[in-house]
Amino acid sequence: MSVSREVKRITTHVLQEMKQKGEKIAMLTAYDYSLAKIVDASGIDIILVGDSASNVMAGHETTLPITLDQMIYHASSVVRAVKKALVVVDLPFGSYQGNSKIALESTIRIMKESGAHAVKLEGGIEIEDSIKRILSAGVPVMGHLGLTPQSIYKFGTYTVRAKEEAEAQKLLADAQLLEQLGCFAVVLEKIPAALTQKVSAQLTMPTIGIGAGPHADGQVLVLHDMLGITTSFQPRFLRRYLNLFDAIKGATENYIQDVKSGDFPSNEEAY
Ligand code: KIV
Repeated sequence: MSVSREVKRITTHVLQEMKQKGEKIAMLTAYDYSLAKIVDASGIDIILVGDSASNVMAGHETTLPITLDQMIYHASSVVRAVKKALVVVDLPFGSYQGNSKIALESTIRIMKESGAHAVKLEGGIEIEDSIKRILSAGVPVMGHLGLTPQSIYKFGTYTVRAKEEAEAQKLLADAQLLEQLGCFAVVLEKIPAALTQKVSAQLTMPTIGIGAGPHADGQVLVLHDMLGITTSFQPRFLRRYLNLFDAIKGATENYIQDVKSGDFPSNEEAY
């Protein structure tokens, strides 16, 4: 008789229980099969196929250019690698704002063509209809408030959001609305730590912070930033766990040298 070694998958219910128990949630981005496999094997709770792929994978200045087809390509590569984590996919700019029917169509394409488990949308009351329609189709929704990079041309800068009372009040109201609508979690990006604490205390759904201080129920970073593959992005909130840029560059330089000198391949490396 074979012994079942099935891995217990992270679901939205597991995340809810984690918040109730005060257990922090760890989330990272991934965009391809190979790195998603490593991140999943590490025991991460949530993998976000973020539209930050537009920056770190495609080299665009903003997240705006990435298309729905490109997000589906990244998401399906990640899903093929993942055994445990909940896979959440960003709806890209232009695929959900202003028209809930288009939002649902975009979501259905992501769910059917990639096999992902949930979607993430940026915004509050402005996208209420889109969120309602997606949820009514049975797809879990993660919200995203604070610095929402798809609105960068409205903000004009990547500085901390919701420092003023009016914007903080709107963020709190939006977070409560997302919870009432049935979202399972919300990302809070680049807002004051005290506001994160207040929002997290008032919600039963988990908050996931990025540049939002220690009081969120979980944290998220862009994988290529925390691994030190990207080097020009240096915000205060970013903790780098590796310097892969230098490590990969060093290995590549050694390889070039070995090829040029005739050291590689050796007789043992030949057939
Ligand atoms: O696209 C992304 O990587 C994100 C995270 C920064 C939360 O939305």
